[in-house]
Amino acid sequence: MELPVFGAGIIFNFTEGFVMSNYSELFSKSIDNPEEFWAEAAEGISWYKKWDKVLDDDNPPFYRWFSGAELNTCYNAVDRHVENGLGDKAAIIYDSPVTDTIYKLTYNELLRKVSSFAGVLKAQGVSKGDTVIIYMPMIPEAAVAMLACARLGAVHSVVFGGFAAHELAIRIDHAQPKVIVTASGAIEGKKTLAYKPLVDKAFDSADHKPEKCIVFQRPFVTAELQEGRDLDWQQEMNKSEAADCVPVAATDPLYILYTSGTTGMPKGVMRDNGGHAVALHWSMKNIYNIDTKDVFWSASDVGWVVGHSYIVYGPLLKGCTTVFYEGKPIGTPDPGAFWRVISEHGVKTLFTAPTAFRAIKKEDPNGAFCKKYDLSSFEALYLAGERLDPDTYHWACDLLKCPVIDHWWQTETGWAIVANCRGIEEFPVKPGSPTKAVPGYDVHIVDEHGKELGPNQEGNVVIKLPLPPGTLVSLWRDEKKFVKSYMSAFKGYYETSDGGFIDEDGYVYVMGRMDDVINIAGHRLSTGAMEEVIANHPDVAECAVIGTHDKLKGEKPIGFIILKAGVQRDFEEVKQELAQMVRDQIGPIACYRESILAHRLPKTRSGKILRGTMRAIANGKEYRMPSTIDDPTILDEITQVLSTMGLPE
Ligand code: COA
Ligand code: AMP
Repeated sequence: MELPVFGAGIIFNFTEGFVMSNYSELFSKSIDNPEEFWAEAAEGISWYKKWDKVLDDDNPPFYRWFSGAELNTCYNAVDRHVENGLGDKAAIIYDSPVTDTIYKLTYNELLRKVSSFAGVLKAQGVSKGDTVIIYMPMIPEAAVAMLACARLGAVHSVVFGGFAAHELAIRIDHAQPKVIVTASGAIEGKKTLAYKPLVDKAFDSADHKPEKCIVFQRPFVTAELQEGRDLDWQQEMNKSEAADCVPVAATDPLYILYTSGTTGMPKGVMRDNGGHAVALHWSMKNIYNIDTKDVFWSASDVGWVVGHSYIVYGPLLKGCTTVFYEGKPIGTPDPGAFWRVISEHGVKTLFTAPTAFRAIKKEDPNGAFCKKYDLSSFEALYLAGERLDPDTYHWACDLLKCPVIDHWWQTETGWAIVANCRGIEEFPVKPGSPTKAVPGYDVHIVDEHGKELGPNQEGNVVIKLPLPPGTLVSLWRDEKKFVKSYMSAFKGYYETSDGGFIDEDGYVYVMGRMDDVINIAGHRLSTGAMEEVIANHPDVAECAVIGTHDKLKGEKPIGFIILKAGVQRDFEEVKQELAQMVRDQIGPIACYRESILAHRLPKTRSGKILRGTMRAIANGKEYRMPSTIDDPTILDEITQVLSTMGLPE
């Protein structure tokens, strides 16, 4: 039960009387006086030149933080820790059950590797403002490549290894990289995957041709190198001349991270250097309660925003130790994998997606594996990436007997919007809610006309502008799309595209996406992109893909397929072909397997497919009969088909 609040920052405590509440005080300051708040937070970062303005709001909705300032993100994440005497401390612990390897990289060693690889990139003509695509598995070289780009002021774009060649090619054409950095392959669970053939295929199909491809050869799979274009990572490192940090403007881009939108063309979320460094550094203590001496583990992948922010940049900016885990929560080798890593490396905080816990729970419901390990270093579990269902929350609490913190964020924001900020003040948890807005985020709920809704009323979750530092500054080479996608629907607010409500105590509840983005095992995917692939099948006339509930992965895609008139094929065969097409063109992580033969789709009188209504039916939610529907009887048909499939689970 939360204590009663008496005005900004003051709470009544029954033993101490009236005291200041850290959270309310800090939150109010961040909203009422953001410039002072973030200027103080910016003291945690080393600058070559301080800012002229903390917040440049001359051109809304393009807000700029720390304009006029200069810094280097790599310097802040690596060099300064060495200069401050932390050179011998572990920066990265690489733990790879799939290759049976564990080693540590100290800050000294990381500095040597990063400055050498920056030299390799520089020798290939990469300089400030150039783009570099990184397509790598979970190995420390991925972080080395990211930091080397940051060192030179080049802009990296990491592409998740589970994306197919076609998706990589889309990103190559949009980001126009000078160089691609990749590895010969990965081990995914028990499968050995060769990355280079995918990269070669992407090179062939992309219109833009990067000048060089640098390949890190792994012992279990050797990549063939193309004379004149491909370079061997190690050979180049052996002859490299270390490169120094290049000062960049705080407002210069650090990276582009493509994320799924509602169409086949992903959005290139653009992050700057200054705001990003300040916000992530601040978040490590205030949200995660992490100090320099601690070991922080984010069990995600460098290809996702969680990997960017909390495997690489956040922990390294803080100067603590980060774990690079190349494995799965189960099967590598068993559901005790996470507990082994925690106990072996003295992990204080683990951050992962609820799916990982559902997978562990499925294989080890009584937590027998957990009991085998000494988890005395472990302090708290943080979960994000999808809604934390109360069942998983309670199971994790019972198992670990430590705080289990749900927190909500998006690729676009780069760090948490709503969280129980343990480093500031820990609130009692209400299962199903990630707790309260993080300082910097002015979260509101509005209806479709932008009218503010009261406590417990469900609507669109929006954030009042300006967004805090570290959030997206625009979309790469597409300012118009940035404004249209996020800033147009509700004037003066950022549209999150999530639906939810805020209760009478200020606890935010995020209920799910209101658009065609779905979340499969914490991976963000676009049903629109899947529809684009399916529509290319020669027998398909029309289709609609929606996300339906899945016990393990949160959501899974299902396609409603209308075949062209006269097509007389066995639908099972078509179904297999569609699954293969999505796998080949988007990637295995799309997990597209299920297609349903349909004869018609629910549409408005103007012909728009009512995907929202289909989603509601599939997930057993109440829906209002759309007034524009051309034939309401079709909704009964859809309900019937889905109920024969046993949905929702
Ligand atoms: N490179 C290539 N392929 C990949 C890949 C990668 N980096 N990551 C996943 N894949 C493949 C998988 O091998 C699988 O292929 P398959 O269809 O041939 O079996 C497919 O993509 C689906 O992967 P995934 O959804 O991860 O399913 P899974 O059954 O292999 O594992 C979980 C299930 C729950 C264990 C796994 O999804 C997991 O650990 N989730 C945690 C979520 C997470 O870390 N999210 C990141 C955001 S915080
Ligand atoms: P991504 O951009 O991949 O991080 O995915 C962002 C989306 O994941 C959000 O818009 C939400 O729909 C969902 N999401 C992430 N974290 C949470 C959470 N803690 N609770 C509910 N939904 C979440």
